[in-house]
Amino acid sequence: MMLEIETSPIAKMQGRILVVDDDPKNLLLATDMVHSIGLEVVTAANGEEAIQRVGESSPDVILLDAMMPVMDGFETCRRLKTDPRTNHIPVIMLTGLNSVNDYIMAIEAGADDFMNKPFNAAVMQVRVKGFLKTKRMHDELDEYRHFLEKRVREQTEIIQEVQDVTIFSLAKLAEYRDPETGEHLERMRHYCRMITQRLGAQGTLGADIDEEYVRSIFRSSILHDIGKVGIPDNILLKPGKLDSGEWLVMKTHTSIGGAALGEAARRLKRGRNRRGFLDMASSIATFHHEKYDGSGYPDGLAGDKIPLEARIVAVADVFDALLSKRPYKDPVPLAKAIEILREGRGTHFDPMILDCFLNSLDEINAITTRFADKSNEE
Ligand code: C2E
Ligand code: SIN
Ligand code: SIN
Ligand code: FE
Ligand code: FE
Repeated sequence: MMLEIETSPIAKMQGRILVVDDDPKNLLLATDMVHSIGLEVVTAANGEEAIQRVGESSPDVILLDAMMPVMDGFETCRRLKTDPRTNHIPVIMLTGLNSVNDYIMAIEAGADDFMNKPFNAAVMQVRVKGFLKTKRMHDELDEYRHFLEKRVREQTEIIQEVQDVTIFSLAKLAEYRDPETGEHLERMRHYCRMITQRLGAQGTLGADIDEEYVRSIFRSSILHDIGKVGIPDNILLKPGKLDSGEWLVMKTHTSIGGAALGEAARRLKRGRNRRGFLDMASSIATFHHEKYDGSGYPDGLAGDKIPLEARIVAVADVFDALLSKRPYKDPVPLAKAIEILREGRGTHFDPMILDCFLNSLDEINAITTRFADKSNEE
């Protein structure tokens, strides 16, 4: 849409004017004056009728008699000016001659202007044209605002999409050296989202879980092992058990990933203090190997000291690792995996999250099946 600039001379203006007067003679008079400058006229004989006409015909300017039966002009004006659908329509009140009281009441009712009756045709026409111009500018700005809002929405969607693809590529890159697959990432994010939504629905976590939190964990959980890019091949891909030195190095994948993502979050923020998904990604990368009893790494955090998102990812990560083939281990059967998870209740895993996971096995299995690992099936 282009923002059209009004270039036509004022004499050629088009517009619809609502004339409201209970006196048929005055109504006809005003109608003639408006007609004679080429504008369309809609009429009403009282306030109630006027409000009905406004809804039907969206006038550009309203000429409103002050003294009328049923609903007077002041009350009509007040109603129009307090309704967000109509408060932008200019109202010219037609008041009794030199009545200061009427003038004050018109202002209080929100009228944009007032004219004393009887009024001069030329003066009335100039005022109507002036307000018509104001109304047109308002309408154009309104249209432009809607256009901009629509563009911002579209651009935001594009940015989100680009972010999603970038994040996924980044995570996938890390996984290239690790024989984990893209399906592992898909399963992870779906397990995490499903558990998070369920926890949210339980309500025990109150304000901790909102829609944005769910969106963030879906997007950021796939970055939990991004720090593995910093682990040498001879350790990461070692077919057997790691010795104690290798294990020390292996464990640094948490702080490596967390630091990189934390740095990215700080660069992105530039003064905003809203917590974004990169903060969550950093928290997950750093703390996904913490254990509920405090025996995990890197910081040995326990219980609620471990960020919620990391406690959620821990369950999903171990579940998926158990069912997957790794250079150092074969997949374990589903029943065995569930047994191992259950053994970790309250020691490795947050009982509330583990229970939620184990109570959702149908949905978990649906996700496992939907994103079945092709390389594991051979
Ligand atoms: P990963 O393979 O993605 O495993 C993630 C987590 O799943 C592990 O964290 C562990 O808590 C759980 N897990 C995986 N396999 C088993 C299993 O067979 N039994 C049980 N009970 N739990 C299992 P953890 O131990 O902190 O290991 C972190 C990462 O370190 C692993 O990620 C893997 O990349 C690497 N890693 C761990 N142990 C070895 C190993 O013996 N050899 C090699 N090459 N890498 C290892
Ligand atoms: C948090 O880190 O848990 C909240 C910080 C924030 O909302 O900015
Ligand atoms: C986002 O707006 O989703 C990301 C912003 C951030 O991570 O701070
Ligand atoms: Fe990990
Ligand atoms: Fe993983």
